[in-house]
Amino acid sequence: MNKNYFINTKNTTYVIGVDDKGIVRHLYWGRRIEDEMLEIPDIWDTNSNHSDMDNAMTEYTAFGGKMYRNCAVKCRYSDGCRDCVLKFKSASQSDNELIITLEDNVYLFEVELHYITYPDSDVITRFARLKNKSDNDILIEKMMSAEISLPSEMPYEVINTNGSWGGEFQLEGETLKAGSVVFESRKGTTGHTNQPTFIAHQGASEDFGTVYYAALGYSGSFKVEVQRDFKGITRAMLGVNDFDFSYTLKAGQELEAPCVYMGISNGFAEMSNEMSRFAINHILPRAYAQKPLPVLYNSWEATAFDVNTKGQLELAKKAAELGCELFVMDDGWFGKRNSDRAGLGDWFVNEEKFPNGLDELIDGVNTLGMDFGLWFEPEMVQRDSDLFRAHPDWIYHYPTRENNELRNQLVLNLTKPEVEQYVFDCMDKMLEKHNIRYIKWDMNRPFSEVGAENLENAQELWLRHTNAVYAIADRLKKKYPYLQLEACASGGGRADLGALGHFDMVWTSDNTDPLDRLIIQQGFSMLYPIKCMRAWVTDWNDNRRPVSLDFRFASSMQGSLSIGANLNEYSEQDMGKAKKYIALYKEIRPIVQLGRLYRLRNESAHGYWANEYVGDNEAVLFVMTTAHTLDNRHHKVLNLRGLDEKAKYSYTVDGREFVHSGAYLMSGGLSLELYNPFDAKIIRIKKVD
Ligand code: DGJ
Repeated sequence: MNKNYFINTKNTTYVIGVDDKGIVRHLYWGRRIEDEMLEIPDIWDTNSNHSDMDNAMTEYTAFGGKMYRNCAVKCRYSDGCRDCVLKFKSASQSDNELIITLEDNVYLFEVELHYITYPDSDVITRFARLKNKSDNDILIEKMMSAEISLPSEMPYEVINTNGSWGGEFQLEGETLKAGSVVFESRKGTTGHTNQPTFIAHQGASEDFGTVYYAALGYSGSFKVEVQRDFKGITRAMLGVNDFDFSYTLKAGQELEAPCVYMGISNGFAEMSNEMSRFAINHILPRAYAQKPLPVLYNSWEATAFDVNTKGQLELAKKAAELGCELFVMDDGWFGKRNSDRAGLGDWFVNEEKFPNGLDELIDGVNTLGMDFGLWFEPEMVQRDSDLFRAHPDWIYHYPTRENNELRNQLVLNLTKPEVEQYVFDCMDKMLEKHNIRYIKWDMNRPFSEVGAENLENAQELWLRHTNAVYAIADRLKKKYPYLQLEACASGGGRADLGALGHFDMVWTSDNTDPLDRLIIQQGFSMLYPIKCMRAWVTDWNDNRRPVSLDFRFASSMQGSLSIGANLNEYSEQDMGKAKKYIALYKEIRPIVQLGRLYRLRNESAHGYWANEYVGDNEAVLFVMTTAHTLDNRHHKVLNLRGLDEKAKYSYTVDGREFVHSGAYLMSGGLSLELYNPFDAKIIRIKKVD
């Protein structure tokens, strides 16, 4: 057979081959090549311990036969056979999609591999669709979305995160020389620790060096497996975590794995900018994808559960005065929610706190010129709630076990259609009755006691739950096209490209310390769009660092600026400053949210931060010092990026105005003096006509 299938993007090519045994082989992923027939290497059993399969780069590896590497798919047929033999069946190719169908022709099990390309991007979207064409059940024990083989036999450094609550997106890199490394979540959500992403390189920097990257569009328990075999081939698989997962594919049924978005770049900056643009153009919900997000005020840190019309309106007045465009009331407005001990599940307005209903507050907020937004935690219930009293069986549970609680909450079994409907109805009712334009969808604990008596195979719940969350979000957005949704899970526990296919933005961390936040924001910016990253200015000062309001604003203005401070405590001077920064942010917002980002300096490598955001006619440079400013090393030169070489730019540093060409600013650099600890400079670099 010996056939090649080419997938071309603007600058890259991906080639799949089918050998004469019908094995679908990975042949190439790299710079764009044209009209070149690629040979499919011959493979043979080298000795009794190394079979031909050890030498094959397979495109979607099935468990079975002589294959001992990590596999992409593992199944159990109804007669007990666990040997899956997937051979090429057919291929169909259009301008933007290649579909390769593999088949186990004994058991009539098919896997479609999809590869989608876009005229405006080098990113390729991949996913697998599993089809049971037989009359018997097939138990799927593992289903990855994509397998990626890298070209060089030399080791790669693999980058992921090792985060925690309050410390999400802490980047870590390790050189994988032997064995496997796994990045995963087993919690039911993405979690705060690892990311469902893959970044591999051999000595790349922000600006240079080949980087292979991929991100999984999924917010449930995921797995990223990277393995380097004895021949030196590094390959990665991304998909739904097979830990405690299986799925019974009934006769005639299909199952689709979540998408993987993957690409190749020259340097990390290009990777981030390509993925950011791709997400804006192709992943984010359409209504707000290409628009800058509003400046939001959230009252959580100011009032916690102690919400009422008077208090919220007081804050709203101040938020409006500052220039906020959206006022969000967080936790505490519903049921008997006076603390974190009760109320979740009872999504009706607490009449003690709002005796005249919610519209008094909403109308007040609207009269102040702001939209109104509300917090929900739809996947949860508490023992002390009407919902739990009425439906104690609506949670994941086993009859023989007592449910563990975290933050006094239990996880609703969203795989029950009536529970999914209840959750939708509660939110729908609130949206129908009130002028609510934004919802923050929170999720504050991982799953436990994962029994679901409604399902024939309860191990399906991991995937079904996440899909139910997406389905509710999509239904709400369909019915209320103006609705903005933010995904939150105790901070950044659901910040990924799966969530961002259904939610317009995410909350990246409950840690709003402006310096910690720069590290978190850097990690987030690697593969996710900056505009989706809500960044609050708050009063948080657990680290006892002497951070000024200027510093806090400069940190949060590098994402989607939001205010979470207790404005009742703001002095007149603070109010004046905040107003000034919000006005400035509104001017530079299209550049920060929709422009390109160049991470010029960071604290761990250089001792200070410098991020440059570039739009068509202007760039904005944020320079921020930490506690250390060494004597005699105050003078810094920053080689800017992404400017128009021939254009002239004007900018002001410490009161002095300069005009230079883009070429000069990029190769000569922009000079500045950094004397003070926790100093923040925001420098606008404007093209001169
Ligand atoms: C956790 C979130 O991350 C916070 O922003 C806040 O909404 C609280 N939950 C409310 O309970």
